[in-house]
Amino acid sequence: MKTLNVGMIGYKFMGKTHSNAWRQVDKFFPVSAKPVLHTICGRDKKGVTAAARQFGWNNISTRWQDVVANPEIDIIDITTANDTHAEIAIAAAKAGKAVLCEKPLALTVKQAEAMVAAVKKAKVVNMVCHNYRRIPAIAQAKKMIAAGELGRIFHYRARYLQDWIVDPEFPLVWRLQSQIAGSGTHGDINAHIIDLGRYLVGELSEVCGHLETFIKERPIMGSKTKKGKVTVDDAVITLGRFKNGALACLEASRFALGRKNHIQIEINGSKGSLVFDFEDMNRLKYYNNADPADRMGYRDILVTEAVHPYVGAWWPGGHIIGYEHTFVHTVFDFIQAVVKGKSVQPTFEDGLHDQKILDAVEKSSKQRRWIKL
Ligand SMILES: NC(=O)c1ccc[n+]([C@@H]2O[C@H](COP(=O)([O-])OP(=O)(O)OC[C@H]3O[C@@H](n4cnc5c(N)ncnc54)[C@H](O)[C@@H]3O)[C@@H](O)[C@H]2O)c1
Repeated sequence: MKTLNVGMIGYKFMGKTHSNAWRQVDKFFPVSAKPVLHTICGRDKKGVTAAARQFGWNNISTRWQDVVANPEIDIIDITTANDTHAEIAIAAAKAGKAVLCEKPLALTVKQAEAMVAAVKKAKVVNMVCHNYRRIPAIAQAKKMIAAGELGRIFHYRARYLQDWIVDPEFPLVWRLQSQIAGSGTHGDINAHIIDLGRYLVGELSEVCGHLETFIKERPIMGSKTKKGKVTVDDAVITLGRFKNGALACLEASRFALGRKNHIQIEINGSKGSLVFDFEDMNRLKYYNNADPADRMGYRDILVTEAVHPYVGAWWPGGHIIGYEHTFVHTVFDFIQAVVKGKSVQPTFEDGLHDQKILDAVEKSSKQRRWIKL
């Protein structure tokens, strides 16, 4: 079987999920090429060596430039912090590699445009890792909406809530520094529900938003006394109008005590509604307005049957899957795209669209007005 050598940059949280996906995918999915965990890269030799051993990579590197330049590598997988995405992805495209990049695609619209231009010029397969698109229940919702089963869509209501920085003594990690993260909750988790809105409902035509930073200063990492300025948002609320006339209402926060990685989506149409809750991710709630009058109500679709997207490759019906599987689905579709030489959604172009929306919401918050896209 054909093989594809993967070079992955970054080895922490996303490095772990991606390593697992590359390792698992050909054991379950009918891939057209087998991925080889060729080289893992990080700046700290000791750390990256331990990660290579733990996650099953064949080689290590401490310079991403060397991985990108290595002629043996076919795919560059970027799982590093946001400020590195553009430079690595553009270099990888120039070197003719297929590129899978974590979200948000870039720090700014300008960077994202340069990334899109680079992959287009080099004609390389590219994808942004918005893995939530490949939760089977979300892919099933997409199928139902695209088939017109919800009719005309009126509402896209989504919230993505966490609580890990409520403590004012929580340190100033990279996610709280704009020069590394771009934005805070906005680019980190609001980006996911913006992307899901575009995937499920369509393109937005205008947005209005408010970004808030509740804790303005935090302890500098490694210091007990010194504090540094928080330069990103802690929470963001967004209103929007889709081109098809539907309304968007989004809330994202890292200050929702008790909410760890809480994603809830409700879509209301003229023929029915769908409700998704990530904490019960194998289920999709469906209200069909055409049901007989005496038994109307939300029904539970357990999205674990072979007829549902992706799940047939896993276990017999009813045997649930979890978070890590969404990355396996993502790399499966990416591998197939690389073999065909044709990118699969969400592409860098999608990442750029998402970035333009993030940018417009920030602008709206600063200028206290609606912004057209
Ligand atoms: N798809 C998702 O649901 C999801 C979830 C979490 C994070 N992310 C994204 O994944 C990316 C990484 O997030 P994370 O949670 O894994 O962060 P993390 O802090 O756990 O890991 C970041 C990694 O990047 C490395 N790194 C940073 N700068 C580097 C450089 N110049 N050269 C080489 N390595 C460098 C760090 O050493 C570390 O290995 C971010 O863009 C984030 O937005 C996506």
